[in-house]
Amino acid sequence: MIITVTLNPALDKTARLERLRPNTLNRLENVIVDAGGKGLNVSSVIQALGGRSIAIGFAGGSPGDELLDRIGRGGLEHDFVRISNPTRTNLKLIAADGSLTELNEPGPLVSGAELKLFEEKLLFYAAEDSIFVLSGSLPRGLGSDTYLVFCRLLHDRNAKIFLDTDGEAFRLAMEGSPHYIKPNRYELFQYFGIDDGESFGEAGLLCLCRRLLAGGPELVCLSLGKAGALFAHTEGVFRAPALNVKTGSTVGAGDAMTGALAWGIEHNFPQERCYALAMAAAAGAVSTEGTKAPDRILVEKLLEQVRLEKLGQR
Ligand SMILES: Nc1ncnc2c1ncn2[C@@H]1O[C@H](COP(=O)(O)OP(=O)(O)OP(=O)(O)O)[C@@H](O)[C@H]1O
Ligand SMILES: [Mg+2]
Repeated sequence: MIITVTLNPALDKTARLERLRPNTLNRLENVIVDAGGKGLNVSSVIQALGGRSIAIGFAGGSPGDELLDRIGRGGLEHDFVRISNPTRTNLKLIAADGSLTELNEPGPLVSGAELKLFEEKLLFYAAEDSIFVLSGSLPRGLGSDTYLVFCRLLHDRNAKIFLDTDGEAFRLAMEGSPHYIKPNRYELFQYFGIDDGESFGEAGLLCLCRRLLAGGPELVCLSLGKAGALFAHTEGVFRAPALNVKTGSTVGAGDAMTGALAWGIEHNFPQERCYALAMAAAAGAVSTEGTKAPDRILVEKLLEQVRLEKLGQR
């Protein structure tokens, strides 16, 4: 079973308007509400591929009720810890010229008692055949070492851990030996404290991936946006150029990749099949609007386009 963790979900409201004008009343049109959060995106992709997952996290107040209602109506299984502070609502404003303005709330403060309840839930689902996807930012009130603590709890139960986060939470969680990680270029450089990453070619990136591998994970999937991805596994390294698709929205492409990898790993698919699925799901996510998951037919069609090149043993 795959369990996705979304600690700081949001009700995402996307509205259209002619032009955003400051210091005056702006009237919004076509307000669309979605359940937002990286773990939820991962769950949606797994669902689209025909798989099952349970989404867990924190939800509070009436935005939290609406969030869970929407997740449920979307057919995703979920089991969130209810918290006293309200789930955040994020507003995305799209003007007629396509420009996007985002107004994001900081998210609820989570108490120590609520975190404890969450950890109990984590342990309830943790088993040898479970894969936990820890992705996205942490809400206020939780320390940067939260994912590290989770990793240690999950290791005690022999569960597998897939980490996809950034900054200090990523740096600290690496000490908890996650099995699979999916940094993007920015997150990789941030991890190694590299400021001038733009000058890094493939050899330099591979060197950093190998340094990460040496720290313990089985798989480092380095996503490189429209430049594709590198898959560094303890058994071999692959390069995949991005697929040529018409761009709808690149938001959530990395989550699609994480979801497809977790699903492939759960099914014990061979490495190359997992990577091909990841590339096709990511391209599918890019070609759909917003964070909408690509459907399975599209992913299967895109699989034909995937080219993987083996770069040699570690
Ligand atoms: N413009 C693009 N065209 C084709 N494929 C793309 C494009 N952008 C991203 N991809 C595919 O999606 C994968 C993941 O993208 P990216 O590296 O941007 O992830 P990310 O930064 O983690 O995204 P997010 O966190 O928003 O989900 C890439 O490895 C690539 O295969
Ligand atoms: Mg990402």
